Amino acid sequence: EFLTSATVTAFADIPFIALFIFVIWLIAGPVAMIPAVAVFIALIGGLILQVPLKTAISKSQVEAAQKHGILVETIGGLETIKSLNAQSRLQSKWERFVAKTAASGLRVRVLSLSIVTFTMFLTQLSTIGVIVYGAYLIQDGLLTTGGLIAAVILNGRALGPMGQVANLLARMNQSLTALGALNAIMALPVERPAGKRFLHRPTLQGAINFREVTFTYPEAEIAALNKVSFSINAGERVAFLGRVGSGKSTVAKLILGLFAPDEGAVLVDRTDLRQMDPIDLRRNIGAILQDSFLFHGTVRDNIALGATIVDDEAILQAAETSGVHEFVRRHPRGYDLMVGERGEGLSGGQRQAVALARALVGQPPILLLDEPTSGIDIGTEKTFISRLAPTLKGRTLILVTHRASLLPLVERIIVLDQGRVVADGPREKVLEALNSGKIKVDQA
Ligand SMILES: Nc1ncnc2c1ncn2[C@@H]1O[C@H](COP(=O)(O)OP(=O)(O)OP(=O)(O)O)[C@@H](O)[C@H]1O
Ligand SMILES: [Mg+2]
Repeated sequence: EFLTSATVTAFADIPFIALFIFVIWLIAGPVAMIPAVAVFIALIGGLILQVPLKTAISKSQVEAAQKHGILVETIGGLETIKSLNAQSRLQSKWERFVAKTAASGLRVRVLSLSIVTFTMFLTQLSTIGVIVYGAYLIQDGLLTTGGLIAAVILNGRALGPMGQVANLLARMNQSLTALGALNAIMALPVERPAGKRFLHRPTLQGAINFREVTFTYPEAEIAALNKVSFSINAGERVAFLGRVGSGKSTVAKLILGLFAPDEGAVLVDRTDLRQMDPIDLRRNIGAILQDSFLFHGTVRDNIALGATIVDDEAILQAAETSGVHEFVRRHPRGYDLMVGERGEGLSGGQRQAVALARALVGQPPILLLDEPTSGIDIGTEKTFISRLAPTLKGRTLILVTHRASLLPLVERIIVLDQGRVVADGPREKVLEALNSGKIKVDQA
């Protein structure tokens, strides 16, 4: 908007300001001093006012973004908010931010308007000055009446563009701040930078290595993982145990390349993840994250979401293993059953089953399951285990769970506590150590 507005014409007027003042000087001599001083003061004043204007503009943009954030959060968490009776709290928070943005918006307008008003005031003052001074010059016979009239007209012409220029400076500030915000977004690191050549690994075996991995979430105070090392062979089945908040899900996120370690390295098939194309990596990992969710669409769409090649056979097989088939079978619409936004229309356990089918559908060499059965009843879980077990041959399984019933699926257990590995070994040994209290973790 800034570029298309009166910009070009207004800036083209600037040289004419000097020309007009020069002509006034030719006609009326010293009278030219008055508009010259007025232009000078207007410029200085305008420039000084840009400083508070700039801070006001960035403040109002930050507040607008926060207001937007509250809105998104509220809509996303509507059911939770209602169940907690938190609506009035959120409403007052919303109203507070609306008031805030209104106030800062007003401040921006007042400031830019005052710049314009200030130059208008100077224009008037300068006109009066020219007339008064000119009148004295006429009395002294140094100027003709015609000369005075010409000087007054030219004075108006010279100062006219000043108002526009001031206005433009204000708008330019607004545009520059917006541009700065955009540039900051564009400058954020991307997962696949344009110039970067990744090692292309279309199929992976499934070996995973953590080498002294330390990781702290952005803006978190303490490290979620602290010098975590382990190595998992291709085809090995490993469970991660540990208390709430011990770092299990963080390990899963690092394996998926959703975050990069601060120190140390995560390797899959002996390749550092920083050198691997995230697309290749994730195609080879079937994952259920703790907070995975479903999208608007049919059950079939949701299962096939991440797969490159989708045939009904694969979908059916994944659905049978995960238990989706059980409940879809009884529904008249079958796999075309619509799922609403964020999985509405399905029960919690059914959502989990669909997420599980989604992880299994591509037959990936690595399965990464974070609490895969937390919302599923014991009966369904049993069937799930019995169906999953035979499909695990030759695959790497990383299983995060609080449920002892899933442990027969694995042969090895790694126990985390406060972001450190406190035990790592064959299943029976680790379970025994946990039960006898040799490892200080209240778990399993
Ligand atoms: N997105 C995040 N931002 C900041 N800190 C986080 C984030 N996610 C987790 N953390 C912190 O990292 C630590 C480990 O979290 P993690 O999710 O790995 O725990 P967990 O072992 O999976 O726990 P749970 O059994 O509850 O799933 C916790 O102390 C948590 O506070
Ligand atoms: Mg977790």
